[in-house]
Amino acid sequence: MAANLPSSGQPNWSSKPAFILAAVGSAVGLGNLWRFPAEAGANGGAAFVLVYILCVALIGAPLLLAETLIGRHGQRSTITSAALLARQSKASSGWASLAVIGMIANYLILTFYSVVAGWVLYFIWTSGGDVLRTIAAGQPFAGAYSNLTVEQVRQQMPDLFADPVKMSIAHFIFAAATTYVVARGVKGGIEVAAVWMMPAFFILLLGITVYAGVTGDFAAGAAFLFTPDFARAVQPEVLNSALGQAFFSLSLGGGAMVAYGAYASRETNLGQTSGIISAADTSVAIIAGLAIFPIVFSVGLAPDAGPTLMFQTLPAAFHSMPAGALVGLAFFVLALFAALTSSVSLLEISTAYLVERFKMARVMAAGLLGTSFFLIGMVSVLSFNIWADHRPLAMVPGFTNANWFDVFDGVTGRILLPLSGLITAIFIGWVADRKLVNEETGLQSGPLLPIWRFLVAWLCPIAVFLILLFGLFPQLIS
Ligand code: TRP
Repeated sequence: MAANLPSSGQPNWSSKPAFILAAVGSAVGLGNLWRFPAEAGANGGAAFVLVYILCVALIGAPLLLAETLIGRHGQRSTITSAALLARQSKASSGWASLAVIGMIANYLILTFYSVVAGWVLYFIWTSGGDVLRTIAAGQPFAGAYSNLTVEQVRQQMPDLFADPVKMSIAHFIFAAATTYVVARGVKGGIEVAAVWMMPAFFILLLGITVYAGVTGDFAAGAAFLFTPDFARAVQPEVLNSALGQAFFSLSLGGGAMVAYGAYASRETNLGQTSGIISAADTSVAIIAGLAIFPIVFSVGLAPDAGPTLMFQTLPAAFHSMPAGALVGLAFFVLALFAALTSSVSLLEISTAYLVERFKMARVMAAGLLGTSFFLIGMVSVLSFNIWADHRPLAMVPGFTNANWFDVFDGVTGRILLPLSGLITAIFIGWVADRKLVNEETGLQSGPLLPIWRFLVAWLCPIAVFLILLFGLFPQLIS
């Protein structure tokens, strides 16, 4: 049926691997390198990792299939595709308007994502200077920041946090780059970048992990990530953080994967690709954890340092690594591309909406949204210095100690994305026409279809609802 729809003129991804790589490009980003280790470290390590993997397998991957199938079926932007499926299922198009929650969540994610990507830019700047310095000194293969002590290397991050001007400039540059790419139209650029950068990134990360494992305290790092304290794993805080991280890392809940699904060809088996994308994204997160925690323990840092973790431990590792200056620069450049392939799709969703709904010119829509997300992001910049003492949601449990940055991160990741995923699960599991949905899954032969239907219709809504409820109101069960 969908095949008879007039094409919306959007080109398909040029091949199935290109679709997978682009979706992985959206999924793999700062969520894996920066947010996953920070969340795991703050929530008991292995307890978090265990719950996280269960969340990805039982909730994330099934919802990834649900989102991509809405997109491929509709072949249009997020909300229009959902509206089409609702109409064909004789359901209210009100279902599609709920997608607005996800769109807003993604827009708010972008405000602080760009701030963190700005930190990456700052480290490109310092490690670029470092490479020039080592070359000038005739030692191009020296370790990173060899003119500094390890303590001074670690101090770079707190120093940056204390400097709102540097942070704003970096945030501005990243926001402008994201806006520029989206204003130009993302398809060609993103696909090319994803196809080349993602494999390169993966190989470099693997190399750094092996080095970290050999030189760091691998046993302590692995024990921290893989020997769970089961009592900790069932704490509502840990469950809620892990669920939020699964949504964040897989780019779920906001419609990005609906938009990407629209570019998958009819031949793509969405059930299979959802599994591949989830597995790839989770592997990158775990490998990043294995690069970071052995170093954390060997240099005596605390694993629960939160957002600073990646920017203090990796430079410390590059410090002593042969050719660490070059490796450090390469790592941050690739991390920047991983962030850019994600940020571009975060901005694309709301831009496409303004273009489609209000017939706005693309450049205008991207410019407006780009300027405003930069300005909102300034609140996060200031929450590390001038407004460090503000606790905007002090009265809300789970947010008592959160600054503005934590509030943007927590409200989107722990509340809005899961809420939007809950609505998607109910829509696909209960409301949408079964036959239309099943045809899109690619799971018809074999036992997977009923399992997937069960996960989407029953497990996802119930588990997400309970985790949201107890995560927000832990007093209900204590
Ligand atoms: N998954 C991305 C990462 O891990 C971040 C992200 C969250 C995202 N939601 C998204 C990216 C939506 C693109 C679209 O870094």
